Amino acid sequence: MTATAPGRIALRGISVSFPAGRDDRLVALDGVDLVVEPGQIVALIGPNGSGKSTLLRVVAGLLAPDAGTASIDGRPIDGPDPRVGLVFQEPRLLPWRTTAANIAYPLELAGVARAERDARVATLLGTVGIEAAASQVPSQLSGGMRQRAALARTLALGPRVLLLDEPFSALDELTRERLNLELLAITARTPTTVVLVTHSVQEAIFLADRVVVLSARPGRVAADLRVSLPRPRSFGDLDAAVVSSTAHEIRAALGEAAA
Ligand SMILES: Nc1ncnc2c1ncn2[C@@H]1O[C@H](COP(=O)(O)OP(=O)(O)O)[C@@H](O)[C@H]1O
Ligand SMILES: [Mg+2]
Repeated sequence: MTATAPGRIALRGISVSFPAGRDDRLVALDGVDLVVEPGQIVALIGPNGSGKSTLLRVVAGLLAPDAGTASIDGRPIDGPDPRVGLVFQEPRLLPWRTTAANIAYPLELAGVARAERDARVATLLGTVGIEAAASQVPSQLSGGMRQRAALARTLALGPRVLLLDEPFSALDELTRERLNLELLAITARTPTTVVLVTHSVQEAIFLADRVVVLSARPGRVAADLRVSLPRPRSFGDLDAAVVSSTAHEIRAALGEAAA
């Protein structure tokens, strides 16, 4: 892929610290270098507090680093950008709005006309498989459906970069596997650069082209491992020998990272 292809994330020497008590700073990220090529899926894994969410917030333009440069397609990240979508662990839907109206919300804010909005919402409901829940409010939905709605809302503006912060970790195993498959189908249809934070080694291997392991605080890149499983993938692929050797490498890096 060329450097001008869309959705290339480049982080160089990113350091982030937070105020901690009087005259002290807590260093969350220390000199992180990470380049994600357009359309690549990277899983970010690391101990609690290793700066995974902080890293996503830098890429989303919600947090300016103390040092280093962060850019998307060569343009410095200097604030939130509609081309960059972020999905959190909790779906953060507006409780009084129906599913359809939640998904429509970013389109409303962007000034998209009613007819086009309705058409795009209908498509997105189908993409994530929750047409039947269109007119229900979040309290009427299961956890998996809420997370689907949050994903659809984030996809509404057609992001070239999708940042997922443990979006499936609160879901039961079957729902999580279904959403993993849907995410792969969505990114296969519309190539999107994805950075996914997860605690699951299996989920990281199943979804990602690369697994990046962060060290315990301060977060640094402890390992950057390629997942050489062909696409399209199915859960049967997880029985392949390459999966257990990759899982072994990730666990070894995590073990060192946490030490
Ligand atoms: N806004 C903040 N103010 C102070 N400390 C923070 C803030 N955000 C994160 N931290 C601290 O930075 C470290 C990294 O946090 P985070 O990126 O949330 O880690 P992770 O997502 O890997 O669990 C943690 O020690 C956390 O307490
Ligand atoms: Mg986090």
